[in-house]
Amino acid sequence: MLYTGKWERESIDYKALKNQWHVVLKSQDLIIGKPKAIRLLGEELVLWRDGSGTIHAWKDYCGHRGAKLSNGCIKNDEIECPYHGWRFNSAGECTLVPAHPNQTPPSSKNLIFSHYAKECYGFIWVALDKPDRSIPLFSEWENSNFRKIYAGPYFYKSNALRAVENFLDASHFPFVHANLNGDPNFPDILDNYQVFKNERGLKTSEISVYQPYGDHRGIPVTARYTYSVLNPTTAYFNKQTGETERFCTFLNATPVDEDECIIWLIVAINFGEYLSEEKILYRQDLVFEQDRLIVESQRPIRLPLDIKQEMHVKSDKLSIEYRYWIKELGTIKS
Ligand code: FES
Ligand SMILES: [Fe+2]
Repeated sequence: MLYTGKWERESIDYKALKNQWHVVLKSQDLIIGKPKAIRLLGEELVLWRDGSGTIHAWKDYCGHRGAKLSNGCIKNDEIECPYHGWRFNSAGECTLVPAHPNQTPPSSKNLIFSHYAKECYGFIWVALDKPDRSIPLFSEWENSNFRKIYAGPYFYKSNALRAVENFLDASHFPFVHANLNGDPNFPDILDNYQVFKNERGLKTSEISVYQPYGDHRGIPVTARYTYSVLNPTTAYFNKQTGETERFCTFLNATPVDEDECIIWLIVAINFGEYLSEEKILYRQDLVFEQDRLIVESQRPIRLPLDIKQEMHVKSDKLSIEYRYWIKELGTIKS
């Protein structure tokens, strides 16, 4: 199959990702009648909705002369190529060749490539190959006590696994998010925490940190984080302050290519109803911009899965387990 991305197809990290669901777009940004070009793991894809609203994710490629279908349009529930006007139905079959309308169109078998697409939590999820695992559960999604707010997307010129690992790391707070998520003059000494592996992925015990401006209220808090990794590019934290106040974040990183990713967030909050969405987004945007600058600077670009390639301490336990897990998923596929 034609392939133009940089990510080496035989590498373990690539293999860990190709059979997984990835968020690629917000549902509302794909309207019926207008195909959309996206990239996932270096593949150029076209997303389109048929008249029933069903989403299709195909290689952005017409089997006639290789034009991009995303530049075409939708007619009668079929996608029309912009070059010679050939039409393809939702099963990927060529139904019309305008230059020869009375002839049976040629077979598109092995020339139109279909991937897996679904909608969930207001996002479009795509898997390049048959997904090994279901779309992760975002436990607060159905809970009406939590206000949900979309933040991002944030565009990083970095590897998606590096970006997810950054999200899972509590010891960078006082430095990268100085005076927001930590105090650079008194960085928290992190207690030992545990990492549990479950059928979904990884989960930590509580990690407690002091935060001068820990959430959109702008007040100092002692925050207790519990992190989860729900998929290689889906992570979550539950941050508890006080008895019942919870601020949860469901993060997805689209692996666009080995050196490019897009971060999509949904935050779920059960306090501070009076606080504006603008205020919440201001803080989210600030924090992720600070993270972006660091993550884009990391070398090597791809997350080293050989533990010996970097130094580690106890507070890196989650990132070590994350690397082991990615390696395990990719090795099973080898
Ligand atoms: S390249 Fe698509 S119809 Fe010719
Ligand atoms: Fe951060």
